[in-house]
Amino acid sequence: MKAKLTANKNNVIDKIDERIYGSFIEHLGRAVYEGIYEPTHESADDCGFRGDVLDLINELNVPIVRYPGGNFVSGYNWEDGTGPKSERPSKLDLAWLSVETNEVGIDEFQEWAKRAGTDVMMAVNLGTRGPDEARSLIEYCNSTTDTYYANLRRKNGFEEPFGIKLWCLGNEMDGDWQICHKTAEEYGRVATETAKVLKWVDPSIELVACGSSDAGMPTFGSWERTVLDHTYDYVDYLSLHCYFGNREGDTANFLARIEQMDKFIKTTADICDEVKEKKNSQKTVNLSFDEWNVWYRTKDEEKTAERWQVAPHLLEEKYNFEDALLVGGMLMSLQNNCDRVKIACLAQLVNVIAPIMADKDGKAWRQTIFYPYLYASRLGVGEALKTNITVDSYKSKEGWDIPYLYSSVIKNEKPGEVIVSLLNRSLDTDIELDIDLDGFDSYSLSRHVELYSDDLNLGNSANGEAISPSEREVTSEKTVNLKKHSWNMLVYKKTDFSL
Ligand code: AHR
Repeated sequence: MKAKLTANKNNVIDKIDERIYGSFIEHLGRAVYEGIYEPTHESADDCGFRGDVLDLINELNVPIVRYPGGNFVSGYNWEDGTGPKSERPSKLDLAWLSVETNEVGIDEFQEWAKRAGTDVMMAVNLGTRGPDEARSLIEYCNSTTDTYYANLRRKNGFEEPFGIKLWCLGNEMDGDWQICHKTAEEYGRVATETAKVLKWVDPSIELVACGSSDAGMPTFGSWERTVLDHTYDYVDYLSLHCYFGNREGDTANFLARIEQMDKFIKTTADICDEVKEKKNSQKTVNLSFDEWNVWYRTKDEEKTAERWQVAPHLLEEKYNFEDALLVGGMLMSLQNNCDRVKIACLAQLVNVIAPIMADKDGKAWRQTIFYPYLYASRLGVGEALKTNITVDSYKSKEGWDIPYLYSSVIKNEKPGEVIVSLLNRSLDTDIELDIDLDGFDSYSLSRHVELYSDDLNLGNSANGEAISPSEREVTSEKTVNLKKHSWNMLVYKKTDFSL
């Protein structure tokens, strides 16, 4: 199949906010215990954090990590996870029907984040709790005052504030699975009052209000309008969450979910702007896509698993090659919508629906989805450009026209690079792609990274990586071959003609 891609240097969508390459660690399954924290592991550091896991996270270059939930946060008492470990209570976690030992809490997590070279995106409990506990938490984390919670932090060994700049006002409050789920009215009110007290304690922070847990929620749209009616003046971002799956074994349709993600983003952004206009506001509320991934094989596992275990094996989705293709495409969607999406979190980071797996007493290893994430976060920096693609298309289940090729183009003037990401969604045909990058005459194609396997179901394991990228030989400036069902990244570099 033949296709053509054109992009013009001056046709810029926006500068990419690197926080779109964020991730997420929840107190869920083995994400924290046996994931980032395993004091008896041979690679553990002085705080009990796994060094091999930290190495892989450093490789991924994760700018921000959302914590401590997720559904978990809606029943969490943050004070349980501070102070001497021997005095911390074990409690029932009603979100995942597990036992939380509280051996790791905000004290440890902010230290871990430093070691992982990432910032903390903190969620407050607006399920069982409310503004009072949230204001105590932010005083504990960010205040320099001579007051109770700031002094409690000092007593616990942290003279300097943690300086957490990004805060989520609860989690998925539109879902009836949430501990103390709320109507949009109820949530809008409590989110507004919590936003006010948080910003009074620390005016430098940014706040994320809960949008819909999925575009398929029956309240999608009305939830956003009501919540923003209340919170618009007090928050900076509205959240979106979305997980895709290939339950029917229909790969073509699975890979067509990217357009659904695009549509979800555009519709949510339009609602933000509709409320902006209604309120005659000067401020724009942008988007935080703070949970996204492939997740279906291990959904609802907690309902049948043995209850009240510490760090049970939950949501340990084993990713295959086609999952990596979709994750690669979803990352391109985030890049293409970077004018509105300023934060995004691949959910999650370790063991739980994660790019990194950590075996107890064993190895840490890379799942298939690790690779598109790695290349996007490392190289997908700069300004996203509008692209124009001419290619054949197919029909999705909903009857949408889905072009076989999905792409993003990013110019990064600092090192002088253009990064072209490409997903060939055809399951049986290669694409011969003609590329025209207008305004980049002094650039030449220097790398073609490819993620390909004949077998869409192949995955990685602790014993080896069946799926990992390879470098293809660059033979032509203008035309590249994109194998059937493959993810590709082209790197164009500025040629220095000076002697
Ligand atoms: O990431 C797993 C769960 O998915 C989160 O706890 C919740 O917010 C979402 O439903």
